[in-house]
Amino acid sequence: MNVLLLGSGGREHALAWKMSASPLLTRLYASPGNPGIGRVAELIKLDVADHSAVAAFCQEKKIDLVVVGPEGPLVAGIADDLRAWGVRVFGPSKAAARLEGSKGFTKDLCAKFDIPTAAYGRFSDLASAKAYVEKTGAPIVIKADGLAAGKGVTVAMTHDEAVAALEACFDGSFGAAGAEVVVEEYLTGEEASFFCLCDGATALPFGTAQDHKRVGDGDTGPNTGGMGAYSPAPVMTAEMTERTMREIIEPTMRGMAELGAPFAGILFAGLMITEQGPKLIEYNTRFGDPECQVLMMRLKDDLLVLLNAAVDGQLAHMSVRWSDEAALTVVMAARGYPGTPEKGSVIRGLDKAEGEGVQVFHAGTAVNGGALVANGGRVLNVTALGATVGEAQAKAYAAVDRIDWPQGFCRRDIGWQAVAREQAEN
Ligand code: AMP
Ligand code: GLY
Repeated sequence: MNVLLLGSGGREHALAWKMSASPLLTRLYASPGNPGIGRVAELIKLDVADHSAVAAFCQEKKIDLVVVGPEGPLVAGIADDLRAWGVRVFGPSKAAARLEGSKGFTKDLCAKFDIPTAAYGRFSDLASAKAYVEKTGAPIVIKADGLAAGKGVTVAMTHDEAVAALEACFDGSFGAAGAEVVVEEYLTGEEASFFCLCDGATALPFGTAQDHKRVGDGDTGPNTGGMGAYSPAPVMTAEMTERTMREIIEPTMRGMAELGAPFAGILFAGLMITEQGPKLIEYNTRFGDPECQVLMMRLKDDLLVLLNAAVDGQLAHMSVRWSDEAALTVVMAARGYPGTPEKGSVIRGLDKAEGEGVQVFHAGTAVNGGALVANGGRVLNVTALGATVGEAQAKAYAAVDRIDWPQGFCRRDIGWQAVAREQAEN
């Protein structure tokens, strides 16, 4: 089959790498892709906002499946528009992508279908939001309703921080995304990312991961898109997975179907494992980046077979097999990230870094005059498999150290909680 992949990050490189191993694949196209994706796909430039142009490309190249990587096009309704042209798409409809596109929508769904989550209020003016904060007190969490590129959430430890975050939202710091605000209870516990492959009716558990959002070692400094991840997440025991399916995922699937917006695609639940059990922090309606990279390293089955089954409503008949090994990915970022990253520095030695059980996925890279250069904030995802998280971590950092890129940096402690747990057990 011919496949078109939309996106350009490390997530998409991991998806392209895995799909390219499928015997079902004839040709893989990617738009816009990146130089790593270009090793396994033909790169093309489509205007992803112009859905009819994407559909025309699909008809011309006889594309059998479009795989959408990032949330933006899904929230904008690309899946619906392509389907209207007869193109098969892996990814949720616009109505189903509201699970990521509107935090208030998801909170109301949780309230209606008894899904455990933080207590909350939804506000569209500063005065009533402030009054709620006065009443409940800090710590408290302030969230812009819409998509804000991962920057719309403030965990406010004090009353003043909460008020400043509310003022920023209503002052238009997040544009239309902040015109409405969710204010919610501060939850404590251990976080985990839980993925399900969904076909509208069935949700199939599709791996767990833990990521590191802060830029600095010891989980310090500003938030980023993610500086590294590992899979599986030790907190997601069989019992916790079973509870998450029963208390969170299955009611979500039933609720979305009841609202006339059945969910098909990847459902990514950000969970807080509290003393009372799993609670939903938020949904994303696509793979995580860099969580996808560790999932793809561990997936033993043919990704294209599974994506096809999701598109065709056949997941009730499927199962998924994972490697018993752990996977860990270290994000190498360009100096300046998560502020303004320096662009254009030359990266050497990737061929020395890759090997048995080690893959380097590209994110913000470009080719300039024949040299590989940094072209974004998060640039490379150095990813390794190991018998334990500790072993995967050692392999990933050994590979990082073979890469010659003085202008890049990474955290040196990805996986620290899991490694500490492994050491305590032995
Ligand atoms: P996001 O930017 O939406 O991925 O969320 C950022 C982070 O904010 C999450 O990963 C959590 O660490 C934290 N967070 C979000 N909601 C809550 C909550 N209700 N209680 C505690 N922490 C939260
Ligand atoms: N790594 C978090 C995300 O993809 O949203």
